This record gives sequence, structure tokens and C-alpha cells, in this order.
Amino acid sequence: MKKILVIGAGGQIGSELTPALRKIYGQDNVVASDLRLNGDWVSEGIAEKVDATNVINIVDVVKRHNIDAIYNLAAILSATAEANPKMGWDIGMGCLVNCLEVARIYGCAVFTPSSIGAFGPETPPDNTPQDTIQRPKTIYGVTKVAGELLSDYYFQRFGVDARSVRYPGIISNVTLPGGGTTDYAVEIYYAAVKKEKFVCPLPEDTFLDMMYMPDAIDAAINLMEADPEKLKHRNSFNVTAMSFSPKTIYHEIKKHLPDFEMEYRVNPLKKAIAATWPNSMDDSCARREWGWNPKYNLETMTTDMLKVLKGKL
Ligand code: NAD
Ligand code: SER
Repeated sequence: MKKILVIGAGGQIGSELTPALRKIYGQDNVVASDLRLNGDWVSEGIAEKVDATNVINIVDVVKRHNIDAIYNLAAILSATAEANPKMGWDIGMGCLVNCLEVARIYGCAVFTPSSIGAFGPETPPDNTPQDTIQRPKTIYGVTKVAGELLSDYYFQRFGVDARSVRYPGIISNVTLPGGGTTDYAVEIYYAAVKKEKFVCPLPEDTFLDMMYMPDAIDAAINLMEADPEKLKHRNSFNVTAMSFSPKTIYHEIKKHLPDFEMEYRVNPLKKAIAATWPNSMDDSCARREWGWNPKYNLETMTTDMLKVLKGKL
């Protein structure tokens, strides 16, 4: 049985990945960790306080719990990192290099998400290929490209089983997103259900790849369970489920809530970041190499998001 360590368990993805892993591998086989011990993940299983920029913290937990797989979710998302680039680098790269070193010494596998942020303005924006030019202009993107390269290096040089996906914007209803450019696609549902007018920070025609959280969880777990013989790529796979703009998602929500209103107050930083990211990625390598196949599209996700948030709010 695998023994798993989740780093960043309190964040948007970690708060849903942790219970999914506990369901599959058993409560005693998943150790959840973050900088602070607060949230359901603490009372629902084994929890540890870990600052992953401190390698000793990771070594201690890996040794005590005999960990053999690390899901490393610690990062500062794109818009927040742009306000403090040094912190974005220190957390994004610091936590990753520590995880890879611990994995090299203690024989762990490592999953660390990359992002659509790993692309830049010179990347073909439509049907963005798996292998293409990656010259991002944000510190977040710089850490993601460096992280992809470092993870492949640790695999090739030391045999560390490092794998990752380039997540698009993730939409979810448990924990709010942590300061990214795609956060609007979550916040718009909260505003709609609360009957508030939504103020959109991106221009109406900004198309970006997106994914509903249940598919994001499946992507992580299925990639880590995939047969290594079949993986021609490792760090990192394009994965997407849908591509939409603020205007498209607004009209989809209005089908359910006809009185819902939205106005645009464009945030120049988020607009500039989004303009350098793909409109839609080609994820055929992930489909071919490990069977990636998302379940949700904009219509089915919207129905589910509104239903869950009506119950919750
Ligand atoms: P988040 O900001 O919601 O959560 C990150 C978690 O990491 C937080 O709980 C934070 O406390 C923790 N953390 C920060 N520094 C830490 C440290 N030094 N040690 C331990 N924990 C630390 O982020 P998320 O949205 O859950 O993203 C997880 C990963 O997925 C990140 O690598 C992110 O870049 C990537 N990703 C996310 C999205 C998305 O839309 N959410 C899209 C693409 C990629
Ligand atoms: N959702 C993330 C962000 O906007 C994409 O990696 O930063």
C-alpha cells in the first residue's frame, strides 16, 4: 500500500485531493500537511505542520511515516506572485527542490502541478502543442518551466519518479482559489448564487483553458497510477477540459439564473497575464499516454456548481 504525503493540503486543490486520496488509499496511509493546521483535512486523518521550504521538515515527516509518494501543491499563484516575485520563486522552487531531494534520498515518487502559466506570448495560443516554445513572462511561469525541467532532470539523472500536469484554471466549491488569474471563473458562481452583480477582472473575450475540480483530482491520481512504460512525457502533460471566456460563462450561468448581472472592471495585471496564456491546449498526449478523459464540460460543471453552492451558501 502506498504511503502518501500531501504538501499544501489546505489550499484549493489540496482540500479536495486529500479526502480523495484518503478514500482510495485509506485514512492511515495519507499524511496531510500545510503551514498551518486548520481545515477539515486536520480532523479527518493524519495531519502534520510542514514548511516545505525547510527540507528538514519534509525529511522528518517522510521518515516517521515511511512516505513513498509526495503530492507537492505548495506554490504562490500567478497574480499574487507577480506582487512579490522573490517570494513566488522561493516558495515555488524552494518547496519543489526540497521534495525532489527528499524523493531522491528516500525513494519517493513526486507529483507537482505545472500550469498553463508555463506558456508565454510566443507559444501558439490555439490548440497549444504538448512540446512547444515556453518563454513565460510571469515569475509564476518562470517557476513552472524551471520546475518542469528540474523534475525531468531528477528523473533522468537519479531515477526519481517525478510526474506532473499543466493544470488550466481549476473551478471548485470547497476552498476559494489562492490568488490566480483564473480565480474569476470560481468567484462568478459565488456571486451568482448570492444574487450579487459580478465584477469581472478580465475582458469579455479572454479565452482560457479550465477544468472542474473532480477532473483535476482524477488527473493527479490517474497520472501517478499510470504505467511508467507508457509515459513518453513526464513533466509536464497538457490537460484541459473546456475553454471559455467571461462572456461565455456568464451566458451559461444566465440560463439557470436569468437575473444574474455582470459588469467589466478590467484588472490590468490579470489582463496582461491572461493575454500570454493559451486559448486552448492540445491534450492528446495525456489522452494517449495515460488515458486522460475529463468528465465535465461548461454545461455540466455549471449545473453542478450552482447546485452545490445553493446548498452551501
Ligand atoms: P493554493 O494557493 O490554494 O494552495 C497552496 C497551499 O500551499 C496553501 O494551503 C499554502 O498554505 C500552502 N503552502 C504555501 N507555502 C507553503 C510551504 N512553504 N510549505 C507548505 N505549504 C505551503 O494553490 P492551489 O490552487 O491549491 O494550487 C496547488 C498547485 O496547483 C500549485 O502548484 C499551483 O500552481 C497549481 N495550479 C493550480 C491551479 C488552480 O487553478 N488552482 C491551476 C494550475 C496550477
Ligand atoms: N489558476 C492558476 C493561476 O491563475 C493557473 O495556474 O495562477
